[in-house]
Amino acid sequence: EHAEATAPSTAQVLVASNRGPITYTLGEDGTLDAKRGGGGLVSGLSAVDDKLWVCAALGDGDREAVRRGVGEPGVRMLDIDAGVHADAYNGIANSVLWFVHHLLYQTPVEPVFDAEFRRQWAAYEAYNRAFAQALAEEAGPEAAVLVQDYHLALVPGMLRELRPDLRIGHFSHTPWAPVDYFRLLPDDIAEQLLRGILGADRAAFLTRRWADAFIGCCTEILGGTGRTRIGVHGLGADADFLRRRSREADVDERMAALREQVGEGRKTIVRVDRTELSKNIVRGLHAYRTLLETRPEWRERVVHVAFAYPSRQDLAVYRDYTAAVQTLATEINGAYGTESWTPVVLHVKDDFARSLAAYRLADVALVNPIRDGMNLVAKEVPVVSDQGCALVLSREAGAYEELGEDAIVVNPYDVVGTADALHEALSMGAEERTGRTKRLAEAATALPPQRWFLDQLEALRQE
Ligand code: F6P
Repeated sequence: EHAEATAPSTAQVLVASNRGPITYTLGEDGTLDAKRGGGGLVSGLSAVDDKLWVCAALGDGDREAVRRGVGEPGVRMLDIDAGVHADAYNGIANSVLWFVHHLLYQTPVEPVFDAEFRRQWAAYEAYNRAFAQALAEEAGPEAAVLVQDYHLALVPGMLRELRPDLRIGHFSHTPWAPVDYFRLLPDDIAEQLLRGILGADRAAFLTRRWADAFIGCCTEILGGTGRTRIGVHGLGADADFLRRRSREADVDERMAALREQVGEGRKTIVRVDRTELSKNIVRGLHAYRTLLETRPEWRERVVHVAFAYPSRQDLAVYRDYTAAVQTLATEINGAYGTESWTPVVLHVKDDFARSLAAYRLADVALVNPIRDGMNLVAKEVPVVSDQGCALVLSREAGAYEELGEDAIVVNPYDVVGTADALHEALSMGAEERTGRTKRLAEAATALPPQRWFLDQLEALRQE
């Protein structure tokens, strides 16, 4: 079914994820342009030889690359039917599973698990099956297969049936829902998801809290986790890469431009997120407005630098959320701005060098998600910060388990509490700030991506 030529089945370490390490865009003149991605998995996997990354073709460029046989050694892109992929990715993974694990439903009216949902679920099964089949074809005898995330929850179970010789791991990069919330899902679907992951030899999570929630669901719904081992691996920031990259010339240039926008002598509150419902950007802006309202001494003296990079724009609820962020930023600037002071500087165009510049410049970093598997921004800022940065951190981010002691911790729903925390962070003395930043950076880099990945591999190979 797949157009690409199949290599002999020898790979010893396989990774499977929806989004792969490379994306192709199709130019108007028909040329294909390859762009490499970053992230924990990319740098984690760089420590391993004899590996294969199986991922989905995500757009026209990727699909064209598969059809033309263009690719990279070590990467196999699956050209799954575009409609099936859209139903699985947008319909199930992002509109159902993401919502369940991040507690995002407005429960008086949603979710509604109707016939359309069942149709999309069949697509999710087909998409998971395509991955299981490709992995079964590609894996060498007794190879280790590391399946990533909520997109591919059914793969471990399906793959075990096809290839009982393999060592199979599953890793969740999201939180895991508490059992009462997980039970919003239809019973058969909830069971299928748990059994899918329990098809793995080992299921791993970013924090103890998410692992315990998963165990809780398995215990309540299935009576236990069976023979599957449960692990916790708290991915850390990639210190070497960040320190080097954040000192390059393009970052310096963007720092100069940001300084200009902020204005002389003003403090900055920085946030960098995908415009993602769970990131709580709107309440963050409310908190900032509350700060300006209730503590007028900060007016003219602080700028909220908010980078909110659009994500999942195929979904109306994400588009609406993006618009809400923009509207609120404009409102705050209209209400408080002066000729010489723009209270909120909002950028929506993704620019990694500019994000690093903002990290270096930040006096305060605001990381206030409703819920987050880990949140790497909270870990990256202290590593690259130039003169120390106070961290305002949601207790619902996975990073809280490791950084809670030296952060100013907030309940993400409490806007007044968050405004108070911003005030406390802005008021922190230089010495305290430097001390805390140093300890935060140490905690944040305790488990660098390569170690994080190798630990999982070793644990999977042990019995
Ligand atoms: O947080 C879990 C996660 O899989 C991240 O690793 C990733 O950034 C995101 O969710 C998926 O995003 P996307 O839908 O853009 O692939």
